[in-house]
Amino acid sequence: MADGAEDLQLWDAAAPAYAGRADSFYRRIRGFLWDRLGAVQDLEVLDLGCGDGWLAEQMRQAGAQVTGIDGSTALLARARSWYPAVVFEQRDLVLGLPWPRRVFDRIVAHMVLMDIPVLDRLLADIAAALRPGGVFVFTILHPAFFGRAIVDEGPGGQRYRKVTGYLGHETRWITSFGGHRHYHRPLSWYIEQLAGNGLVVTGMHEPPSLPHAEIPEADWTDYQKWFAAIPTVLAISCTRGPDVAGASPRPCVRLEC
Ligand SMILES: C[S@@+](CC[C@H](N)C(=O)[O-])C[C@H]1O[C@@H](n2cnc3c(N)ncnc32)[C@H](O)[C@@H]1O
Repeated sequence: MADGAEDLQLWDAAAPAYAGRADSFYRRIRGFLWDRLGAVQDLEVLDLGCGDGWLAEQMRQAGAQVTGIDGSTALLARARSWYPAVVFEQRDLVLGLPWPRRVFDRIVAHMVLMDIPVLDRLLADIAAALRPGGVFVFTILHPAFFGRAIVDEGPGGQRYRKVTGYLGHETRWITSFGGHRHYHRPLSWYIEQLAGNGLVVTGMHEPPSLPHAEIPEADWTDYQKWFAAIPTVLAISCTRGPDVAGASPRPCVRLEC
């Protein structure tokens, strides 16, 4: 099986630029995330792909007992030094979770799953590690719209994002922070994998794209209104259904129309 070693080298190299920066995606999904997490006081929470640990620390400050897990040595070094009250573990998540019996009340994966080349083992382990009634929330770059070229035909013409090759699984290159790989999968693949592992989707959030959030909405240009209306990030919440034991992922269903 492929592992995540090459990707993790890229994340180690990205760490000086990536760590400690403001996260514009979090601003868009924060309301949904905390609504789905609910009160986390005294709950056991896993921050999956925790990076430099900033979200793990926020959940700890909200009263949770938080474990952060990530594969990047360089990002974890920062996490451990900046947030010593959080427990951090190192793991290549392609291999799934390291604890066969440990369970959590909440599992969060913010902007992580589309960066991992193989998710089969990890998604099965997440389902098994979620307490019945527990909540798994993940955010990803929107499979349909993120990174799609903007076409603007000018006055009288059309303005749109050009979507190609949506149903395929593709590896793309993201140049931010020195560069890393992005593993595109269609949304149906994620939903089928969740369902096949006994996870029930309880919510989906497609926030407006707001790089211009500092400008009052009433003052947005036509372009900014158009830009905001196509979401580039997606958040999904799930809970564990009753029949996880023995569940196996079902194949992705593709419609031919
Ligand atoms: C976009 S960052 C998100 C980090 C963090 N959740 C945040 O919001 O800042 C993606 C994270 O996934 C981690 N990652 C990528 N591939 C991984 C793998 N195979 N195993 C473990 N972590 C991985 C990277 O080290 C990085 O911290």
